[in-house]
Formats: sequence, C-alpha cells, structure tokens
Amino acid sequence: MTDSINSDPAKATVSRDFSRRQFTRLAGLLGAGISFSQILPAAQARTPVSDEKSTNVIAYIDKNEYWTGPLPQAARVAQKTILSGNRYDPDHLHNDFLHTVSTVEHVPVEQILVWQGSMDPLIRSIAAFASPERGLVTVDPTFEVPWKVAKYLNIPVQRVPLTAAENYATSTKALLKANPKAGLYYVCSPNNPTGTSTPLQEIKWLLDNKPADAVVLVDEAYIHFTTNPSALALLQNRKDLIVLRTFSKLFGMAGLRVGLSFAHPELHQRMMRYDGEAATRLINVSALAGAKESLLLPDQIKKRRDNMTAVREAVEQHLQKRGIAFLPGSQANMIMVDWGRPAADVAAAFEKRGVVIGRNWPIWPNISRVTIGSAEEMALFNQQVDRIFKS
Ligand SMILES: Cc1ncc(COP(=O)(O)O)c(C=O)c1O
Repeated sequence: MTDSINSDPAKATVSRDFSRRQFTRLAGLLGAGISFSQILPAAQARTPVSDEKSTNVIAYIDKNEYWTGPLPQAARVAQKTILSGNRYDPDHLHNDFLHTVSTVEHVPVEQILVWQGSMDPLIRSIAAFASPERGLVTVDPTFEVPWKVAKYLNIPVQRVPLTAAENYATSTKALLKANPKAGLYYVCSPNNPTGTSTPLQEIKWLLDNKPADAVVLVDEAYIHFTTNPSALALLQNRKDLIVLRTFSKLFGMAGLRVGLSFAHPELHQRMMRYDGEAATRLINVSALAGAKESLLLPDQIKKRRDNMTAVREAVEQHLQKRGIAFLPGSQANMIMVDWGRPAADVAAAFEKRGVVIGRNWPIWPNISRVTIGSAEEMALFNQQVDRIFKS
C-alpha cells in the first residue's frame, strides 16, 4: 500500500496499479453509478415474480433475513423518530448512536462509523485495500460481494476451498499461503453460507504473519447468532484490521439499512476518500434510532438467538431422520443442505410448493443454503422435504 491518506484519490489509485479507466469505474461503484446486479448476489436482488406467483409463496427462507421485523421496542422508538424527520440530525442522534455503540462494544468512538448497511463499507474496503497488484483472498464458498467487486475492478482473487477435513472452518494459514502478498484478506465469521466461525487465535495468527501493510477484514454480519468472541477484541490501536457489523440479520432491519465499521481512523479515511464523508454522515434518523435502541436490549437479543438455535436444531434433526446430509457446525441462521442432486432443481421443486430456499455456490452444485425462518416456516420446509424426498 503506497498511497497516503492525503494524496489525490485519482493519483493514489493509479499508483496502486489501477488504470485511469478503473478509477472511473471505482468512482461509479461508490457512487452507486453501476447496476446493482453487477455486485449483489443473485438472491439479494430478488427476481420480480408475477403477482400470481408471489401470492403462492408461503415462506421466503432464501436471503438470511430475520423472519420478523425489528425488536418491538426498537420499532416503537423508530416510529416516534419519524416525527423528527424534518431534521438532519435531531437531538444529536448520530453522535448519540456512536457513543452507544462505543459503550456496548468497548471500542473508542473515534474508531466507529455508521453506514447504510454493511455492504457499503465492504465494497469500499475492497476498492481501498486491494488492487490489481495486491489481490484479495477469501475462502470458497463465502459471501460473493467481495468477489464481484474485485472482478469489476480487475483485482485478482484467490479462493481457498473449505473442506470436510477442516470441518468447513476457515484456515488463515491457508489464506496466507494462497497469496502471501495480498492487499486484503476477507474473513466472514460466522461465514455466509456455512455458518462456521473462525476462532480469534486464527485471526490473530493472520494479523501477526501477513505483510505489515495488508489489511484483514472480518465480516461479522452474523455474530449476534453466536456467543463466540468478536474480533473487536483484537482491534485496539491496530492499523490493519476492519470489523464490519450489520443490523440486517438478528435485529430484523435489513430494509432499514444500518451497518457499522470498526477500524483505526486512518483506515476509515482511506475508505472515505472517494466520496468524502457523505455516505456515513447522513443516515436515516428513524433507522438510526431503532438501531440504537436494539443495542440496549441484550435479553431480547439472547432470546432471538436462542429461538433461532432451537429451530435450526429441529430442522437438522428432521433432515437427519430423512437421511439428508447437511454441513455441520453452523452457528448462524442458515444451514447448507446436501441434496445429492442439483440444488437448482431442488430449489425449483420447493418454490413450486411455496417455499423459496437459498442459492447454491458453484463450488458445491448439490448444496443449497437454507435460511432458518420461524418455527412455522421451518415446519413447512420440513413438510416439503418429506414430499420432495418421498422414499
Ligand atoms: C456476510 C455478509 N456481509 C454483508 C452483508 C450485507 O448486509 P447489509 O448491507 O444488509 O448490512 C450480507 C448480507 O447478506 C452478508 O451476508
């Protein structure tokens, strides 16, 4: 990483081996000037279905959304805040929110930024810290947005396959071996789509052994579904670690768009260099108020986690009873089910019966990601498993 924070963004970008044309693409990317379908995973940009078809859908268990809305108390606060929506920042809400996050997560407020979801800081991290010269490394399968952004910007990507021998867990030694000179190492923990967590010692090992100027990004979109420790414990004053969080999963706020990045201010400056601070300063105040309230409800967070875990275990037991394989070790609101036949065909069979399950990844064509919905939705899923896999 040769660019300094204060250098001209265009020049600094070209100095990282991007072409001038790629700089224009990068500016378009951060200004959302490109088609979202080029970046979003297929299932995120849900294909519009005809009215007739959509009325037949009984359960959407395809996008890892929480099955119901925000925590009720958070929703009430968000609704009330709409009435102050004439102000950009009523009652210093933005600052208040950041201080609440700081208190709850024990991270200095200077190291926290809020965004419209976590996709935005994820995209800009790829653009800021990887380059055609210093690539990106991830496991496979994982969340595809980093791959898509890298492809769009001509950044080389090394994908390290997850294996049964390693219990589908991320080996950071394998990540480093795949490209010892990468600009960015992406670790999703718990990983989307396997739900497997990466222990802190693994992340610490990567931080201690990677090139000093490379950055490790830990995506904790699903962390609230586990009781495992967060990589925030490693942040301290480091200048090579970014942790991302979102309110789109356990907090039931995917459509309300609130996400967080935790990093040293110098890393944050680099992430914001292309479009100033606008993307993080102006956040929907109603969503922000709801997110702040959510953080203050640990008992309800635990209740959601416990409920989801019980439902996931019931689904796993049902699959076991039917002799259908699934990947072990998920600690999030998803499981990977191995149908033993093309996953796309199985997904179509479910959809015909009103249950929309998740996508499959090219590396595992027979395995679908299934989001854990409500107990009722998953009972319906189990019922359709029985119908589709009649012995
Ligand atoms: C691992 C991971 N990171 C980031 C995101 C982006 O979420 P959002 O932009 O809604 O915060 C998702 C969404 O599914 C995800 O699965």
